[in-house]
Amino acid sequence: MAQVKSLKILFVTSEVVPFVKTGGLADVSSALPQKLQELGHQVRIVVPKYGSIDERKYKIHEVVRLKDLTTTIGKKEVVYSLRSSFLVGSKARVQIYFLDNEEYFGSRNSLYYDPLKGTEYKDNDERFILLSKSVFELIEKLGWVPDVIHLNDWQTALVPAFQKTIYKDNEVFQNIKTLLTIHNIGQQGVFPKTSFTKTGLPEEFNNNKVALFNDKFNFLRTGLKFADKISTVSESYANDICNIPEISLGLVKEINSRKDDLYGIINGIDTLIWNPEKDKKIAKKFSAANLKNKMKNKEELADKFDLKFNAETPIIGMISRLEDNKGFDLFKQSFKQIMALDVQLVLLGTGDKKYHKFFEDAEIKYVNKFACYLGFDDVLAHLIEAGSDMFLMPSKYEPCGLNQMYSLAYGTIPIVRKTGGLADTVEDYNDDNKKGNGFVFTNYESKDLLFAIERAISLFQDKKAWERLMKTGMKINFSWLNSAKNYVNLYKNILK
Ligand code: GLC
Repeated sequence: MAQVKSLKILFVTSEVVPFVKTGGLADVSSALPQKLQELGHQVRIVVPKYGSIDERKYKIHEVVRLKDLTTTIGKKEVVYSLRSSFLVGSKARVQIYFLDNEEYFGSRNSLYYDPLKGTEYKDNDERFILLSKSVFELIEKLGWVPDVIHLNDWQTALVPAFQKTIYKDNEVFQNIKTLLTIHNIGQQGVFPKTSFTKTGLPEEFNNNKVALFNDKFNFLRTGLKFADKISTVSESYANDICNIPEISLGLVKEINSRKDDLYGIINGIDTLIWNPEKDKKIAKKFSAANLKNKMKNKEELADKFDLKFNAETPIIGMISRLEDNKGFDLFKQSFKQIMALDVQLVLLGTGDKKYHKFFEDAEIKYVNKFACYLGFDDVLAHLIEAGSDMFLMPSKYEPCGLNQMYSLAYGTIPIVRKTGGLADTVEDYNDDNKKGNGFVFTNYESKDLLFAIERAISLFQDKKAWERLMKTGMKINFSWLNSAKNYVNLYKNILK
């Protein structure tokens, strides 16, 4: 094998599985560093130590050199430590540093939202300024200088700005390059103008040309200005945020001005966790060669949701945050007509209160047709993927999406809207040449959504064709290896 130059990557993120998770970012922050390390690179991760992270279980220990560090946020002197442990995967052990500060992180179990008030924490600006600043102390104190700092979402987006301003004269940081990955442009880290002064960034950037957007301090926008390269989690979403103002949510001009530095790399899936042949969380393991066992999962799923099992009636599964941008306004509009079809539908997720109410009522109205669990339950998520015949994702926009890939791996046919990562992973079934792996609709309209579902139901009647479709999906390789290699190429490109 040719000798690859080993790169040093510092991966900064606000959540990592198995320590803490609110969304897909946590999965990526765990799987990608491990794969990079398996490929021969050195990766270290930085993440806040929220109160919910179990120190004992994860053997998080003190590092003398990284104890009682100080920095200023506005006029406030803040003392913190970086403590260390390992992210232990099947093949790789990745060193992970936990940013430890009682006031900002330790005293809170929740990540961004105050569960008591139902709003974002008031001091999220200070919390994530601290995360960004801690990165520089870490590098200097350890003497471990990365080639690339890989940043993720608004919570880490100030790092490039700090590097190029307040830390610019420090030789240690001069050759480091930065990559900012956008997992969801809908979250930008928007704060009152007064937050800017807390950063210590030069006043000359305190305006709508650089750090502010509509007179508010915007972390992500600042990151877009200063990061060496920018990426997002699928090629289509990269195009969408350049071209569709409703998708880039205010930042279309900004993204376009960085078009040449913008890359789209699709996420992979963790095939140790999402694999029907090895999955211990489902009723019965199965594979493309043994689809009979998938039916056992369907039975179990129907049972769990109190639906009368009928092999001939397709079950459509959904797992999602219940939000407009995940397509729930469209879904709600079409719901009555979907219920009139020969299907059963199960839903798992939480989100907007208006949808909780709607689905609670629907469950009573459509007995034996619709059932939901409005919470989160990992085991149930696996069973839904394994036991459903179809999986619905009508998203208005979708940076990458992971469930459509899990579905394909489990022989569960995805029905998706053609947007972002969904467009890049699901190909519409063509009855003439039998190509495709799912059902795709383009317009965000009720009749188009319904038509896609109807087409799926109709093909479901043709057992042979359906089985062929299931097997096509199950054969696709969505492992992280390809994506990790693409990141390595991108890092090398930045370093050129
Ligand atoms: C965000 C996006 C989702 C993506 C995930 C990981 O949660 O909404 O589409 O899969 O990040 O990148």
